[in-house]
Amino acid sequence: MTQRLPFRVGPGEFHTDEARLAEAVRRYHEGKGLIGGDPKRRPHRPPLPPEPAPAFRLFGSSAEHLERLEAFLAAAPLEVEIGSGGGEFILDWAARHPERHFLAFEVKWKAMRRIVERAQRLGLTNLWVSDDDARYDLPRLLWPASVEVFHILFPDPWWKPKHQPRRIFVPPFLDVLAILLKPGGVLRVATDVPGYADYIRDLVENHPDFQTHNPALAARFASAAATARQAFCDEIDRPYAYFYFQKSPTAGLPAPIRMKIACADQRRPKETKIDDGPFGLCWSYGLCWSGRSSRHDPSDQPRTLDAIYKAEIPSPAPPTPMKMTMRRQDEELMNDPSSSIE
Ligand SMILES: C[S@@+](CC[C@H](N)C(=O)[O-])C[C@H]1O[C@@H](n2cnc3c(N)ncnc32)[C@H](O)[C@@H]1O
Repeated sequence: MTQRLPFRVGPGEFHTDEARLAEAVRRYHEGKGLIGGDPKRRPHRPPLPPEPAPAFRLFGSSAEHLERLEAFLAAAPLEVEIGSGGGEFILDWAARHPERHFLAFEVKWKAMRRIVERAQRLGLTNLWVSDDDARYDLPRLLWPASVEVFHILFPDPWWKPKHQPRRIFVPPFLDVLAILLKPGGVLRVATDVPGYADYIRDLVENHPDFQTHNPALAARFASAAATARQAFCDEIDRPYAYFYFQKSPTAGLPAPIRMKIACADQRRPKETKIDDGPFGLCWSYGLCWSGRSSRHDPSDQPRTLDAIYKAEIPSPAPPTPMKMTMRRQDEELMNDPSSSIE
C-alpha cells in the first residue's frame, strides 16, 4: 500500500508576480529560490541511506559513489522525474522498464528515503534518487542531450509571491531542460492548477526548442501509475491536465554550449580522471565550470550565461580549469521548510 501525501487544493487563483519573476530570472545564476538554500550549506539533513544504496547528494556523497552514479547515468536510456513525492509513479514506471535508467529528485528527505526503501524492497536496480534541489544538480550531473523523458508531475505552484522563485517552470530552468533533453525527447507535465497549466503551456510552446503539446504522446505513458496528487484529485473530482511537449527532433545545442564542451574537451588533461565525465563540465544557465574538484571549492565565482555568451573561447593551453560555482545567501528560504501547496 502506498501512503498518501497530505494535499490541499490551494487558494485557486494562480498569480505570477512579474517583478518577482523578473528578479528570480535575473538572479537564477545565484541560486535564487533553491529549496533549502545553498546545497553546500543545507543544514539539518540527516545522513543518506548508507552507500552503495542508490541515493546521493552532490555535496555529501563520496567520490566513489558519485562515480557509480556517473556510470549508471551513462549506461541506459535515461528518464528523470522532478518532485517524486512518495514515488508512486517512478517506482512503478521503473519496475515496468527494467531496460531503462531512472533518476528521481524529491527535496523532502523523508519522502526520498521512503522511495529508496521501497525501491530496495522491490529489488529495483535501475533507479537512483536524491533530495537535492533538481535545479541545482541537473546541469552539474548530466550531459546535454542525454535525457529521453522528463516527468514533472503536479509541480508545486508556490502560491505566495515571496515563494515564486521556487517554481520549477521559469525560463532559465526550461532552457536547462531543453538542453538536457535529446532531440525528440519528451517533457511530460501534469498539473491541477489551471493558471499554472496555462502558464506552463505558454512558456514551453514559445520556447524555440519545443513543439506544441502533442496529446498523441499520451499513449506511450498509458500504463503509468497515478501519482499521489493525481489520486487525490481523482478522489475529490478535481480536474487536471497532462501535457506532452516534444523537443524538436532537429533542435541542436546552443552554440555557446557546444563551444564550451569543445573547449573543455581540449583543455582536459589526458592523464587525469578528474575532468572526465558529466561532472567535468557544468554548462548551466548561469554557471559554468570545468573540473570535478570545483564542486568543493568555496572560492568559486558565479558567471552569468550572458557572460558566457560574450566570453572569448579560451585557447586549449594552459589547462587551468575554470572554477565557478553557485552562491546562495537567502537565509529566509533556507530556513523555511513549508510547502507552497498548503
Ligand atoms: C505537489 S508535490 C507532487 C508530488 C508528486 N509528483 C505527486 O504528483 O503526487 C511536488 C513535489 O515536488 C517536490 N519538489 C518541489 N520542487 C522541487 C525541486 N526543485 N527539486 C526536487 N523536488 C522538488 C516537493 O517536495 C513535492 O514533494
